[in-house]
Amino acid sequence: MSRLTDLIAQAKAKDTKLGADLDREFKALSSRLPFGLNFERHSPEAVELPLRPIRKGDKVRMLPVRGSTKKGDQHLWQVKAIHKAKKLADLELLGTAEVETQSVALEDLVVVAEFRDTIYPGLVSTGKVERGADKPYHTVINGENYHVLKALTYTHRGKVDAIYIDPPYNTGAKDWKYNNDYVEGDDLYRHSKWLAMMERRLLVAKELLNPADSVLIVTIDEKEYLRLGLLLEQTFPEATIQMVSSVINPKGASRGTGFRRTDEYIFVAMVGKATPVRLELGPEWSSSAAGVTASQDNNGAAEETPEWTSMMRRGSHAARSERPGLYFPIYAAPDGSRILEVGESVPIGSPIPSDRPGTTTIWPRRSDGSEGVWQVGPSELRNRIEQGRVRLGRATAYGFVVNYLPDGAYAAVLSDRFEIIGRADDGSIIARGRRDTRRIAPSQWKIPSHNASEHGTALLSTLLPRRAFPFPKSLFAVEDTLRFFVKEKPRAVILDFFSGSGTTAHAVMRLNHQDGGHRHCISVTNNEVAADEQKALREQGLRPGDAEWEKHGICDYITKPRVQAAITGNTPGGEPIKGDYKFTDEFPMAEGFEENAEFFTLTYEAKDAVNHNLAYARIAPLLWLRAGAQGKRIDKLPADGWAVADTYGLLSEVDKATPFIKAVNKAKELRVAYIVTDDDRRFQAIAKRLPDGVVPVRLYESYLTNFSFANGE
Ligand SMILES: C[S@@+](CC[C@H](N)C(=O)[O-])C[C@H]1O[C@@H](n2cnc3c(N)ncnc32)[C@H](O)[C@@H]1O
Repeated sequence: MSRLTDLIAQAKAKDTKLGADLDREFKALSSRLPFGLNFERHSPEAVELPLRPIRKGDKVRMLPVRGSTKKGDQHLWQVKAIHKAKKLADLELLGTAEVETQSVALEDLVVVAEFRDTIYPGLVSTGKVERGADKPYHTVINGENYHVLKALTYTHRGKVDAIYIDPPYNTGAKDWKYNNDYVEGDDLYRHSKWLAMMERRLLVAKELLNPADSVLIVTIDEKEYLRLGLLLEQTFPEATIQMVSSVINPKGASRGTGFRRTDEYIFVAMVGKATPVRLELGPEWSSSAAGVTASQDNNGAAEETPEWTSMMRRGSHAARSERPGLYFPIYAAPDGSRILEVGESVPIGSPIPSDRPGTTTIWPRRSDGSEGVWQVGPSELRNRIEQGRVRLGRATAYGFVVNYLPDGAYAAVLSDRFEIIGRADDGSIIARGRRDTRRIAPSQWKIPSHNASEHGTALLSTLLPRRAFPFPKSLFAVEDTLRFFVKEKPRAVILDFFSGSGTTAHAVMRLNHQDGGHRHCISVTNNEVAADEQKALREQGLRPGDAEWEKHGICDYITKPRVQAAITGNTPGGEPIKGDYKFTDEFPMAEGFEENAEFFTLTYEAKDAVNHNLAYARIAPLLWLRAGAQGKRIDKLPADGWAVADTYGLLSEVDKATPFIKAVNKAKELRVAYIVTDDDRRFQAIAKRLPDGVVPVRLYESYLTNFSFANGE
């Protein structure tokens, strides 16, 4: 080790950054657990930011020429100078000993952010839908989720009640990119790349979860579930982690060799005192019990009935010659209403007892007339009659069918799945499946409404006709999963930072619809264009960053329109959405929801923003988000030096503190007061004058420094 430390010290002397990188890797290696997950951390991750204007000092890549579908040059260059008039940038190649320079057209460059770079995030509103009066706004953010998560550490540290994510499953079929490149099935590092990508995000997500009571839900399939399980254990050592198996495709998908895949997995990391609540669950939530049939009642509601089975023994050892002790008469009332008496076994060769007047004798005879046997002997049968487990069925040529409840069905009837509501005239039990019992769900789900093709893909296409999105979750599956954790939290904050088509936000709106809740969802997803569509767009000469390209990106083309459609009840074309929600409640999708939503795009600001108003405008949504994403927003620096909105106030000139505090005292719902000053003492003095319940938050005068996030990777 000391040799390695020496070498690192030498490297540091020659090249500080290289030395620091080596040092970090060495420390990571030496702190590795002897057991557990070992993986290459692939630092730093980088992401292209096609919408970000090029500035001096930026790291950039050169784009492939328009019309080409080839991969572009992967080298990283640094912008040394920009010639605005000529629309050119002077570049210097990074990471080489010899200096290499080039001048390239600005339009052929794209900014690359490495995750260890400091960023100054901002948000720009791109539209909103308002049908929810004073409810908080669901927000949809178009952006790289790692950077958005970092920004959310300012707005939501420790405040998120539930995170639901459905990350790329690493199928090897172009389902995700690392450093702007699809991770293919034959990439030797595909698992470690995936783990590195997930770990970085989970570590930030963890800072957002309420440590006292919150949950992280991650869906996954067989490709990565083993590694994800270990990663979660390592990242959330204090959480209780469980894995649910959930059938999402009952027909099953072929997996080449092996079983057909019908289910996927849902990891649930319960933080603090979080635990799934007891809910009134339909019988489809019961693991199938022996002797119980699930069906539907006349109203289509799921119902369970115990299985009454014929007492005639079938299959092996079912002939009288084999089990003579099980051959005996049963005497029944001639109208079939009850069993009157059970006779004794009749050994082979003994005379058959004669019929009794006023009774019908039932012998264990098969339909072809041959002699069979009963399932149990006479004394056991008498016991079972006593227990109410035996009753007569239809008439046959040999008397009546004798039915009984086998042990499994009888145990189910005595369990809390059933309620015994009385006994029939013949003494047999009348049991009814309990419908409304509040139960803790099992860890194996086979719920028809969780079918992803019917309640994900097909449902999405009714909201967004002719717009395709690969593999959305069943809306009801997400709703059911979240319900266990946010049912009793009507103001819960829910986050999905791989939100794809926006199913989670939609599910949260449905939960609110059921109980009048004010939960709100933050959905984050990037504006990637699906792999096959990318090719077509490139062939047309388009590139990321072009308006025509971006409009086909997931966030702008699917997520935002889906959330809008769900709320308004209209498709993007303005048509009422066809069909009804048919789940725990039924109503036309065209009714929409009384909810609000606002759409944003993440921006990357220049550190030294000279224009104060512009710098403030970009952080304004973050201040509003931190105060609960509710009511009006203070979008501009107030001309009077202060402003008070519904949930927060802003004091931008400290010598206007007196009128500001007066206004704060009057406002009822105020939660946060932002005070802009570089002077700590003045901040403290003003903070003391605020009423109870209003949290003072200090902002530096150069606004963007409040939101600088360095990762230290
Ligand atoms: C499997 S999908 C989620 C589907 C979603 N649960 C639904 O029901 O529609 C994952 C999504 O995460 C997005 N995504 C992947 N990597 C991302 C990243 N680094 N930042 C933001 N979004 C990302 C992808 O564009 C994709 O839409």
